[in-house]
Amino acid sequence: MDDETDSEYHLETLAVHAGRGVDPATGAVAPAIYPSSTFLRRPDGGVGPSGFGYGREGHPNSHSLEIALAALEGGAGAVAFASGSAAMLAVLESGARRGRVIVPEAAYHGTLAQARELLPRWGAQVARVDTTCLQAVEQALSADRTALLVVETPANPALGISDLAAIGELCEARGVMLACDNTFATPILQKPLALGAGLVVHSTTKYIGGHSDLLGGAVVAADPGKWLDDVDRFRTRAGASPSAFDCWLLTRSLPTLPWRVRAQSEHAARIANFLADHPGVAEVMYPGLEDHPGHAVAARQMSGFGAMLAFRVAAGRRAAMGVTESTRLFTRATSLGGVESLIEHRASVEGPDSGIPEDLLRLSVGLEHPDDLVADLAAALG
Ligand SMILES: Cc1ncc(COP(=O)(O)O)c(C=O)c1O
Repeated sequence: MDDETDSEYHLETLAVHAGRGVDPATGAVAPAIYPSSTFLRRPDGGVGPSGFGYGREGHPNSHSLEIALAALEGGAGAVAFASGSAAMLAVLESGARRGRVIVPEAAYHGTLAQARELLPRWGAQVARVDTTCLQAVEQALSADRTALLVVETPANPALGISDLAAIGELCEARGVMLACDNTFATPILQKPLALGAGLVVHSTTKYIGGHSDLLGGAVVAADPGKWLDDVDRFRTRAGASPSAFDCWLLTRSLPTLPWRVRAQSEHAARIANFLADHPGVAEVMYPGLEDHPGHAVAARQMSGFGAMLAFRVAAGRRAAMGVTESTRLFTRATSLGGVESLIEHRASVEGPDSGIPEDLLRLSVGLEHPDDLVADLAAALG
């Protein structure tokens, strides 16, 4: 299964085979790394038979990764980036050139900063809406010249859930492109393109990389058309291209993605239940818990609730900071999606203006044994 991907295959099979195959020249089963920045051209100066010209425009390792990501998301094509932020900016820029852009109230703070600080410099009109509220979305979409609506679900920091199918219908009726940041769910737990999104954005730094050892991003499109071309052009013009080595690492991580994500989600559910019963915890934000406001929608549109959760420490900020100093397995660091569990005081990461409660801690649950993770948190909470 090389350039061709057969959507009849299950996710696990696509994760192992899509975009890769035995190298016909050497018989190598494992993919090679092609660090070359440039490629042989035809005598007339045109791009050679490999289809690759200059590394910034794409190379064999980004190409393999793009085929695999498109197959996993059920898309027509993908563009790999040097980071999730670069991928999101490419989508925002493509939207801003067409009209008004709407971003969520709650999302990764870097996405919101791009919309707040960068888009207006390009003369773009930007609005923010609570994408967990359908009425608010409908109202926001009614403004003229809206070209793009971005959602992130589950979203930073409280794991808010937006109804992709319902928002997809609203967008389709108005000819608005719906882009979904699927970083927290991954294509293993949620398929935004099947639910009505036209674009999916990933920080592949997170679960897709899965080992906290690279930065990367990707945009996957439902259709091959103009939006994907624009996103691709943005990457080339901005030089936001991923290295061959990082793409190779991502390709290497893909076969285990379904198994990592499902196991990590199971561990997170276990921890959410533990925290929900703990007297030192004021609130647990995890879409798998029945009292989470997005639980019903998440149960409908996700095949698992993910491995990210947030909780509020009843005794306040100092006690919360104390928890992050006391865990032995949860490492105090920002980011998510790696095999190792992380704990972070989100307000410190996002800054004093973020509005994130000072007693809120965010967990990225890893692949350690869940009994050990629960014991670690129990000891840290005292
Ligand atoms: C949901 C989400 N989207 C996008 C990004 C940005 O990704 P990157 O750090 O790879 O630029 C992040 C980073 O934390 C994220 O959590």
